[in-house]
Amino acid sequence: MRTLRDINELRSTLREHRQQGRRIALVPTMGNLHQGHLALVTTARQHADIVVSSLFVNPMQFGPGEDLDAYPRTFEADQAQLTETGCDILFAPTVSALYPNGLAAQTRVHVPEVGEGLCGGSRPGHFDGVSTVVSMLFNLVQPDVACFGEKDYQQLAVIRKLVSDLHMPIDIIGVPIVRANDGLALSSRNGYLSEYERVKAPLLYRTLCELRDALEHGTPVEQVLQQGRTALYDAGFTPDYLELRDATLAAVSSSTRSAMLLAAAKLGSARLIDNLSVQLP
Ligand code: PAJ
Repeated sequence: MRTLRDINELRSTLREHRQQGRRIALVPTMGNLHQGHLALVTTARQHADIVVSSLFVNPMQFGPGEDLDAYPRTFEADQAQLTETGCDILFAPTVSALYPNGLAAQTRVHVPEVGEGLCGGSRPGHFDGVSTVVSMLFNLVQPDVACFGEKDYQQLAVIRKLVSDLHMPIDIIGVPIVRANDGLALSSRNGYLSEYERVKAPLLYRTLCELRDALEHGTPVEQVLQQGRTALYDAGFTPDYLELRDATLAAVSSSTRSAMLLAAAKLGSARLIDNLSVQLP
């Protein structure tokens, strides 16, 4: 695997592959890689000849008071895992390479509607930061396909709309959530959990499973969501949101059958997110 930090070097390397007719896949990440990220690389491998992974802790998507400085940085271990998983090119630019004029002067990409509410509601500006950096990476790499995890379900929906609205010729592939044996969705932020919190954390997933079962048995939506919020508070979480939306993240209606149950909750200093699909009766 080649590690490239320079934009021009990335472009000239990829130009050669493109001229040879090779299909290129992109897996954007912020590093501190785990099996969830590596599942994206494995999926990318199945769809392309050349797999590019980017590693960039994007300051634009962190709000004031969020964990930009504390975000775990484990470059050498990430590099080793990507090599083992069959990644061909690791693109790891510096902040000044991607934002040479600083964040305030940077053109921003805003995706309306689907980026509002849920994580977009509790993290104002977050999805503008994601959409901007992902647009930049798409322009630099010009991939045929790009893989994103369903764990960040709203992010995946934002990227799908971005690509469609801007007519970008890129197939977006959603990859199922990779979980620990006890059900907790893998996340770089799980490292913020104390030993005690780590034992409790899978309750978020277990609660979502119980709520899904109740919904699939026809219990009214508001009753189930209220029960879920209470269960999370009682377990020591501070729920940020717990909502049922349709698969496109629009509000559910009486005709909705395929729905998504989405939650974000704080446990200690860690903000955990998770989601499950639900088939309404
Ligand atoms: P990051 O949190 O590093 O996640 C990179 C990718 O890995 C995202 O597509 C995310 O959904 C996926 N992922 C994380 N945990 C996963 C899990 N347990 N199962 C499946 N996929 C998982 O998401 C970002 O970075 C950034 O916002 C980024 C898109 C790179 C833009 O900066």
